Amino acid sequence: MKVLVLGSGAREHALAWKLSQSEQLQALTVAPGNGAIATRFATEDVELTAPAQVVALARKLEVDLVVVGPEAPLVAGAADALRAAGIAVFGPDQAAARIEGSKAFAKDVMAAAQVPTARTEVFDDPAKAKARLASFGPVVVKADGLAQGKGVVVASSEEEAAQAIDTLASTGAGTRLLLEERLLGREVSVMALCDGERYALLPASQDFKRLLDGDRGPNTGGMGAWSAAELLPPGELEALGAQAIAPVLAELSRRGCPFRGALYAGLMLTPQGPRVLEYNCRLGDPETQVLMLQLGEDLLPHLDAAARGRLRPGPLAVRPGASVGVVLASPGYPERPSLGGRLAVTPPAEGELFFAGVGRVSGQLVAQGGRVLTAAAWGPTVARARALAYRAVQGVQLEGAQVRQDIAARERL
Ligand code: AMP
Ligand code: GLY
Repeated sequence: MKVLVLGSGAREHALAWKLSQSEQLQALTVAPGNGAIATRFATEDVELTAPAQVVALARKLEVDLVVVGPEAPLVAGAADALRAAGIAVFGPDQAAARIEGSKAFAKDVMAAAQVPTARTEVFDDPAKAKARLASFGPVVVKADGLAQGKGVVVASSEEEAAQAIDTLASTGAGTRLLLEERLLGREVSVMALCDGERYALLPASQDFKRLLDGDRGPNTGGMGAWSAAELLPPGELEALGAQAIAPVLAELSRRGCPFRGALYAGLMLTPQGPRVLEYNCRLGDPETQVLMLQLGEDLLPHLDAAARGRLRPGPLAVRPGASVGVVLASPGYPERPSLGGRLAVTPPAEGELFFAGVGRVSGQLVAQGGRVLTAAAWGPTVARARALAYRAVQGVQLEGAQVRQDIAARERL
């Protein structure tokens, strides 16, 4: 098979790394990729949010399958355009991608599908949202539209919540926002490959969203992740799939927008039971970087089957042990990343470096994005995987780089 992977992040680097091991693979191209991906894989330029360009590229390369990494091309309709052109694509149509593109739409689907979630109120007027704060209780303020993981403020006071409303209203994706009941518990990411009707679960993983050690500081796109079969008790992954994936697939299909691609449920395991915090219409980043190491079988046949509506349901095979990924981010990320710093890289003896925001300037790797790379490693235990991931990230020098030191530190498996 000839495969085109769309995206330019560490997630797409990890997908390309995994797919390149498939016996069914004949050729692989990443578009647009980045300066580091280009040293390992064929890359092509493309405007990801211009569906016609995406179709033209897929035609030029005569690919059998397009795998879409990020949400922006999906929300822009890239998968619709590819399907209309008769090209198999792993990634949902625009209408189904709204499950991530609009939190208000996601809440509506969840209500119809009876998925347990946090109590939410939607506001189109920031002043009305602020007036509601006094009586709302512990609150999380969320922008309705896409904000690259930065449209959510878990407020610790009414003043902070009011400030978040002002900030989101002035900079966010439009003025619509949500107030959501603040929940407490352990977070877990459950992802499923879906073919519109059926789904196959990927291993559970956990993402570290806050910038600083001890889960302090602002939310980011994700500063690290880990995965292990033991992350959830036996049977729990399947139970979460039945509660959070199956009913949403059925509801989207009923509404005439079947979901074909990766459906990601971000869950909070509260004392009252699991609650969905968000859906994403794609694989998680940085979760994918650890999942690709954790999978115990070829991924390509599953993505292809999902794209063609003939998925074999049931969980994918998982390796024993654990995988840990540590993100290295630019100084100033997430608010004001300062870019252009030079990277000095020692390739790790064990584990992988999956690159995101990097370019090449006169043969030198330079930081060009907020999250620069994920260092990821598999090990027979979490402690071993963790040690290897940190050893790998220590081989990367970038002045002012931010790396959390406590990724998967409290896990004892
Ligand atoms: P979201 O993009 O909606 O998943 O939110 C990003 C992060 O904010 C989540 O991963 C949680 O850490 C936190 N968060 C979101 N919603 C809630 C909530 N209702 N209660 C507590 N924390 C939340
Ligand atoms: N790591 C969370 C996300 O990809 O949205």
